[in-house]
This record gives sequence, C-alpha cells and structure tokens, in this order.
Amino acid sequence: MGSPQARLKRTAAQRALGAVGAMVLASAGLTPSLAANAQADLRHARDTYLLHCSGCHQPDGRGKPSAGIPDMRETAPLLLATPAGRAFLIQVPGTSASALSNSEIAGLMNWLLPALSGRSDLKPFSAEEVASYRSQPLDDVSAHRAAILGTGAGGLPYASPGRRSDVTD
Ligand code: HEC
Repeated sequence: MGSPQARLKRTAAQRALGAVGAMVLASAGLTPSLAANAQADLRHARDTYLLHCSGCHQPDGRGKPSAGIPDMRETAPLLLATPAGRAFLIQVPGTSASALSNSEIAGLMNWLLPALSGRSDLKPFSAEEVASYRSQPLDDVSAHRAAILGTGAGGLPYASPGRRSDVTD
C-alpha cells in the first residue's frame, strides 16, 4: 500500500471520485455522504462565496432587501425557472464583474444554487456556459431583472427591493 505506485493510483482514484462526487452532489442537493475531494470542492465554493459575495448577500443569501440587496433564497428559484433568469444569475454585475474565473463561477453556482433553492435537479453550469453569458453584459440591470421576475415566474413573492436611490436607512 505504501509504495509510490500505490499512492499514485490512490490519488488518481480519489481525484476521479472527487469530480464525480461533485457532480452527483450538485445534482443531489448536498445530502449524500461526501467523498473527501467533493467535500473539498464544495468547501472551496463556499469559501469563495463567503470571501467575494457574502459581504452584500450575507452568509445564507438573505441579503438586505431594504438596501437593494435581494434575498436570493426567494429570487434564485424564480430566476432558475427561465433561460433568461438562468443567464441573469451570471450576467448580474456581482457575478460577471467579479475577479473570479469562469470555472470558479461555475463551481460557486453549482454549490450555491442547489443550497439556496433546495433543488437537486439543476443542470450544472459549465465554464463555457458562464463565459457565454459573461460576454453579453446587461445595459440596464434593474429593468432586465424586473422583466424576468415580473413576467417569467408570476411576479415577486415579496416587495421589490427597489432602487438603491430609494433607500432611506
Ligand atoms: C457590492 C454588493 C454585492 C456583491 C459583493 C455581490 N453582489 Fe450579487 N447582487 C447585488 C445586488 C445589488 C443585486 C441585485 C441586482 C443588481 O442591482 O445588481 C445582486 C444580485 C445578484 C444575483 C441575482 C439575484 C437577484 O435577485 O437579482 C446573483 C445570482 C448574485 N447577485 C450573485 C452574486 C455572487 C455570486 C457574488 C460574488 C461573486 C455577488 N453577487 C457579489 C450586490 C452584490
């Protein structure tokens, strides 16, 4: 077991398991027992979120609607319901203009969206899909967002966060 070849084999097997595990977990909603590498991938995605996103969105995604930061626990499932919404999750400036690479964003979303929505059937984002949305920036983020949420999914279940200029506190 301790020979270099055995160690090499074990590492390759672990890596393969990690990749499969991450996909299974992304589609199964974070519940099954975790392979060590898949767990590391998920931890990396969570750490990336905490570092780059949670300052505005809060660790659990609740945001601060009164200050214009949407509650993604409410909006992520609605946005996931349409192709335009799926694109918006990436096109929104907080995601697309971040310093993260396309594959980091894909990994982040493949952890974040099942966790936020409780859905286990989401099609994982690939780096290529992220790149294609990132190459189509939005002119008017608020109007685009309102159009998607207002028409695509039967309206908002909560008061619209409003423009930041409306914020009084
Ligand atoms: C400076 C604050 C800020 C940071 C940092 C930030 N966001 Fe956002 N995010 C917002 C605001 C505000 C919106 C609402 C749309 C808009 O006006 O841009 C939003 C919207 C979103 C949405 C769409 C949900 C909705 O209801 O509109 C997603 C997905 C999202 N952000 C993901 C991220 C991710 C992932 C990161 C980290 C890589 C991140 N954001 C970093 C402020 C931020």
